[in-house]
Amino acid sequence: MTIDINSLLRENIKNLTPYSSARDEFQGEASVFLDANENSFGSPLDTAYNRYPDPLQWKLKEKISTIKGVPPQNIFIGNGSDEAIDILFRAFCNPGVDNVIIVPPTYGMYEVSANINDIAIKKVNLLPDFQLDLEGIAEAIDKNTKMIFICSPNNPTGNSINRQDIETVLSNFPGLVVIDEAYINFSRQKTFIQELTEYSNLVVLQTLSKAWGLAALRIGMAFACGDIIDVYNKVKPPYNISQATQELALEALNNIQQVNEWIRETVQQRAILAEELADISIVEKVYPSDANFILAKIKYADYLYDFLVDRGIIVRNRSKVVLCQDSLRITVGTPEENDILIKTIKEFVI
Ligand SMILES: Cc1ncc(COP(=O)(O)O)c(C=O)c1O
Repeated sequence: MTIDINSLLRENIKNLTPYSSARDEFQGEASVFLDANENSFGSPLDTAYNRYPDPLQWKLKEKISTIKGVPPQNIFIGNGSDEAIDILFRAFCNPGVDNVIIVPPTYGMYEVSANINDIAIKKVNLLPDFQLDLEGIAEAIDKNTKMIFICSPNNPTGNSINRQDIETVLSNFPGLVVIDEAYINFSRQKTFIQELTEYSNLVVLQTLSKAWGLAALRIGMAFACGDIIDVYNKVKPPYNISQATQELALEALNNIQQVNEWIRETVQQRAILAEELADISIVEKVYPSDANFILAKIKYADYLYDFLVDRGIIVRNRSKVVLCQDSLRITVGTPEENDILIKTIKEFVI
């Protein structure tokens, strides 16, 4: 669907004059920088961090661009995906007026971010096979529905959402469709980032926190049409990604071979772990996973969770989550960690 991004924006954002930083106003070579009230003498570290970083992180975006095949102008980098999500709410949703659709069970931050921004949430649960309820979504949409969040592969269920169903939403919904691909590197399914030219209402979220092993750096990415990225850049804090983070991420992105090796190993371990879990008598169902974790329905899940915690093994108890009764979400670990987990579950007797 082609939509006018401007018409979706909040009025105050449409009229916003963004902050103009010293680094925005002068770009280029100079020998004396006295424009940003920095410490001209240096910083008390071996590396000089006394100058403000590039507000738009062009070097990092160019590197990401070569890896992802998306032009740098179609990339926003946030302080984690959470910043990329929050900015969408602040820019596009009028507090107390607009609403967004989420499809539980799914990643919890969409709802939290909506609540922080006083935006109503409409929940259209996934079907029992963890796929989209397209009729339910169509019924839930009203004139104030600004965004639909779809997580694929989905957290906590692990499955990918049918591509055709996502395309149906993208083609029919006159608001933003946010596809969270945090776990895409572990999936058999293709990313949607090649579809940006097709759909101006598409926002794809990815992160360096999962396959790339950089959760502590806080690098989330939004890929979208130029008009949406312009909105991101207008609303974001001027220097939202630190110099140290930009440098470390650039260095890490040179290690793609190592990351691909870990992805292969994770996928291999996922299959082994799924098989071993399925062989345990209290495990009722191991859901197929396209992510780096497995959801398993297990008898006495709450007791098993506590039993594992007592032995220093922490998984995620999703028993109280809709459609996930009695289920634990288990991150795929190293072979040694997975062995310890399986051995310990086998020691559990009720
Ligand atoms: C689906 C999904 N999206 C986003 C995130 C968070 O990513 P980031 O570390 O980039 O904020 C997570 C983290 O668990 C997640 O599961």
